[in-house]
Amino acid sequence: MRYGYFDDVRREYVITTPQTPLPWINYLGSQDFFTLVSNTAGGYSFYRDARLRRLTRYRYNNCPLDSEGFHIYIKDGDCVWNPGWQPTQTALDRYSCRHGLGYTVIEGEKNAVSVRQEMFVPQGDNCLLLRVTVSNQADAAKSLRLFPYLEFCLWDAMDDGSNFQRNFSTGEVEAAGAAIYHKTEYRERRDHYAVFWSNREPAAFDTARESFIGVYGSPARPRAVLEDGCANSVAHGWQPIAAQQFDLELQPGRSESFLFGLGYIENPQSEKWVAPGVINKARAEAMMARYATDAQFDAAMEMLAGFWAELLSGFKVSTGDEKLDRMVNTWNQYQCMVTFNMSRSASYFESGMGRGMGFRDSCQDLLGFVHMIPERARERILDIAATQFPDGSAYHQYQPLTKKGNLDVGSGFNDDPLWLIAGADAYLRETGDWSILDESVPFDNDASLAQPLMEHLRRSFTYTATHLGSHGLPLIGRADWNDCLNLNCFSERPGESFQITGPSEGPVAESVFIAGMFVKYGRAYTDICRHLGLTREAEACEKAIAAVEAAALDAGWDGAWFRRAFDAYGNVVGGKECEEGQIFIEPQGMCVMAGIGKESGQAAKALKSVEERLDTKYGIVLLQPAYTRYRLELGEISSYPPGYKENAGIFCHNNPWIVCAEAELGHGDRAFQVYRRTAPAYIEEISEIHRTEPYVYSQMIAGKDAPSFGEGKNSWLTGTAAWTFLSISQAILGVKPCLDGLRVDPCIPASMKGFTVSRRFRGAVYQISVENPDGVQRGVKALYVNGDPVPDGVIPVQSAGSTVSVRVVMG
Ligand code: BGC
Repeated sequence: MRYGYFDDVRREYVITTPQTPLPWINYLGSQDFFTLVSNTAGGYSFYRDARLRRLTRYRYNNCPLDSEGFHIYIKDGDCVWNPGWQPTQTALDRYSCRHGLGYTVIEGEKNAVSVRQEMFVPQGDNCLLLRVTVSNQADAAKSLRLFPYLEFCLWDAMDDGSNFQRNFSTGEVEAAGAAIYHKTEYRERRDHYAVFWSNREPAAFDTARESFIGVYGSPARPRAVLEDGCANSVAHGWQPIAAQQFDLELQPGRSESFLFGLGYIENPQSEKWVAPGVINKARAEAMMARYATDAQFDAAMEMLAGFWAELLSGFKVSTGDEKLDRMVNTWNQYQCMVTFNMSRSASYFESGMGRGMGFRDSCQDLLGFVHMIPERARERILDIAATQFPDGSAYHQYQPLTKKGNLDVGSGFNDDPLWLIAGADAYLRETGDWSILDESVPFDNDASLAQPLMEHLRRSFTYTATHLGSHGLPLIGRADWNDCLNLNCFSERPGESFQITGPSEGPVAESVFIAGMFVKYGRAYTDICRHLGLTREAEACEKAIAAVEAAALDAGWDGAWFRRAFDAYGNVVGGKECEEGQIFIEPQGMCVMAGIGKESGQAAKALKSVEERLDTKYGIVLLQPAYTRYRLELGEISSYPPGYKENAGIFCHNNPWIVCAEAELGHGDRAFQVYRRTAPAYIEEISEIHRTEPYVYSQMIAGKDAPSFGEGKNSWLTGTAAWTFLSISQAILGVKPCLDGLRVDPCIPASMKGFTVSRRFRGAVYQISVENPDGVQRGVKALYVNGDPVPDGVIPVQSAGSTVSVRVVMG
């Protein structure tokens, strides 16, 4: 069942009922000011850091769900309603929500009054803009009241939700004209305030929640709306809000628009006040003046549209399969940009108060956005590398505001160092900007320890090469990619963190997954060395890689698939002798992507085992059989009920690894089958089962062992976005940036007769047309650039600004 449809021309998902299975959200903003907004206008705003600079409040576990946001109330006689249905839940005569690229438009109609609520964050400014257009479609005039309403957060979202003995006394506001200023803590150390404004003078306002809602009222039945209007209340402590009241006489056929904004303003210390207790509003007033008219609003929206059109123009495919095209051209790339902006901080599943930026997460996210914003990818790589330790290991997380490593979690996740090579390699292949390797980057954020980035990569490689266990496989440490496989943790007490309990350096437990990574990204490092003329180093690396590869094929091999690990007792994890957890997806994907066992046939066998043992109709589960009881020696993975999260859930992040692995072996039909099973546009029809947004990936879909098989969770902020983009653009469609040029080597279903791709690469545009006359899955018979044959399949780098035509004939 569907709850809407894709509008491919406008690049929108149009939701046609407010009662989606879960709130379906969008992200507004792509620089410093962000807003999450749901299809019923729920959500919240923050400036840069979702914990420390939260502008509006949101209660994740609220009942009903999603009742804080950017709500507009309409009072039409006795009928009170919202164009987005929440929070009054008054039944609407018509409803739609269009989530587009960086904007959302909600429209509701009731009793011949229609209200259109447009929202976006303008480029280069720290505010959210809203336009509310009210139209009277009745035959008679209407007397209406309109109220916008939002609830301020007292900045630090964590404190805001816990430190009530203080918070209930600190709230402060100023109301002036058509603006409401939220200035809690501005009297002391803060140099910033928030402002809510309208472009018209309201009839009245409220800034105290108690006054607008009523002490025992609720957003579904606000006192001021139901009874006699706003009371010009001024909040002192308790809960500051912004609410305004507009009285409107609307003739038949007439429309009126109201412009609102929510801004974040910083003032230098010396310019904080204009009089004792009166804040300096000059910057806020300038902001309001920038968006005071419909024409200004429209111009800012047009600028936003231009920004996204340009950003997504670097990779465009036309395959004849509209679902595939819309995923690749719009939604998958859009999600990659959102994960770049948010990492794992703020979604409807991530509260914005928890972890900072993940070292491994950020490196992987980069794989999905480096082609769109290479300059910001460069900066990100340098930030990440600065949180590496001198021995090559790394802080597992760092804080975006300070860019400092997070001591609470520390290091010891032994896959982290190799992801830095993965990210840097992707950047080099995309940009050819070798100068990044000469950039001086601190270790442990300590400038006195700075070394060129190349030295960071070297130490990443060396760290793994020198931390091997008794089988010659890399030691796992606290965990590898699978944060929940904690082989050195042994946690017995509830509440202990699986990630930081126990020693970080287990001397025994090994990971076959990291072995695969070491072979894959170690080779990438070796290529970099060769490119730089470091032949001796490259040869030494190749030796170390060969030894680990041999260990993976030997101790890491179980007979029909790759084992997962050896635990702290030296017992196999992910082998046929295990009672549960006999086969895991991760080493099959990573080892085969690395080419391990390709010649011996083990790679093909491993993938066959995945198909036989892990496949389900909704995607590939992470392991089988699921763990049915807690196992001290395995940690968090066995803490989840069977079928959820890492315990045999369909972890969408590593499904594309199997896509890439299948493509590595030339299996185009199977690669595409795996791709399609989790790709949102292809599962739109089962939205009642999947429940999360049908336009973006979720981190996890409940596996076959779960009662809610097929249900998605943790939508939006997941490495799935980057990896699926990589799997479809590079592995299946086969357009691969290389150190020396662009390779086109598709691996597609035999039934696909061809496709075209427009790819921006190092400043030139490659118009690629692929023909598959013989219906093969893999193989390039001929490749022509501007009509001339290119023998080795790699298109040399073209001059910036040029457009070249590339013809690829498969066979
Ligand atoms: C984390 C990743 C991790 C994955 C699997 C995600 O929640 O962000 O870093 O690799 O879970 O455990």
